[in-house]
Amino acid sequence: MRTLGNKIIRYETVTSTNQVLKDLIGEGVGNGAVVTAKVQTAGRGRLDRSWESPEGGLWMSVLLELGDSFDTNRLGLISLMAGSTVATAILMEFGVDAGVKWPNDVMISGRKVCGILAEMHIFQDKKYVILGIGINANNKMADTYDFSDSSTSIAEEFGKKIEMSVLENTILEELDFRMELLKNAEFDKILDDWRELSVTLGKRVNVVTPNGELRGMAKDIDVDGSLLIDLDGRVEKIMVGDCRHLD
Ligand code: BTN
Repeated sequence: MRTLGNKIIRYETVTSTNQVLKDLIGEGVGNGAVVTAKVQTAGRGRLDRSWESPEGGLWMSVLLELGDSFDTNRLGLISLMAGSTVATAILMEFGVDAGVKWPNDVMISGRKVCGILAEMHIFQDKKYVILGIGINANNKMADTYDFSDSSTSIAEEFGKKIEMSVLENTILEELDFRMELLKNAEFDKILDDWRELSVTLGKRVNVVTPNGELRGMAKDIDVDGSLLIDLDGRVEKIMVGDCRHLD
C-alpha cells in the first residue's frame, strides 16, 4: 500500500506549502502527509528565490521521514529522485517527453516546467525532508512571467488542459516507489533512473557555485547527487550551484 499521500490537506491559498507543512509537523502530521494549495502568495524557490505560484499550477509539499540510518550526505539524492519522479509522471500520463536538468529542474523542450525545493528539518530527534514540488501545469507562462521563453507549462506542451489530480496521484505513486529504493539503499537504481532522464549529462555547462563560476562538460553525477564536470581533463565535483546549458 502507498504511504505517501495517506493524508492530503488541501488549501485554496497559503504562503508556501513547504512552510505550512513544516508547521504541521509540530501538530503531529507524519511521514507521507501532503499539503497542496491552489495559490501560494510567498512560494519559495531554491537559493532563496521566490516562486511564482498562480492558480492552475500544481503546488505541493510532501513530508518524508528519514530513518535514523539515513546519511544526510545523500540528501541531494532526494531532490534528484523527485525530479525523475515528476518527469516520469508527465511522460506516463500525457506522453510528453520530459527530462531532468541538474540539480532538480524538470524540463520540456529546453524549458523549465517544474522546480523542486527539498528542505531538511529535525523535530523531536526525527529527521524529515519537506519536499516541495512546483509544476506549471495549467497556468499559462505568458500570463505571469516575463521570461516565458525559459519556462513552460504542461498544458502548453500537451496542447490542452491536464487533469491535475491524475498527475498528483501518479507523482505520489512514483515517489513512493523511489522512496522504497532509498530506504533499501538501492542508490544505483536512483542514480541510473536520473541518468536516463538527464538532459544535462554530455552537455557543455556553465555552473555558478558559491565559490565561483565553472565551465566544462557535464560528465556524470556522483553518489551524493553532486555534478561531476570535466574541465579539460580535470574533474570537478559540484554540490550546489546553478547550471546553464551552453549547447
Ligand atoms: C526552484 O526551482 O527554485 C524550486 C521551486 C519549488 C517550488 C515549490 S511550489 C511547492 C513548494 N512550496 C514552496 O514554497 N516551494 C515549493
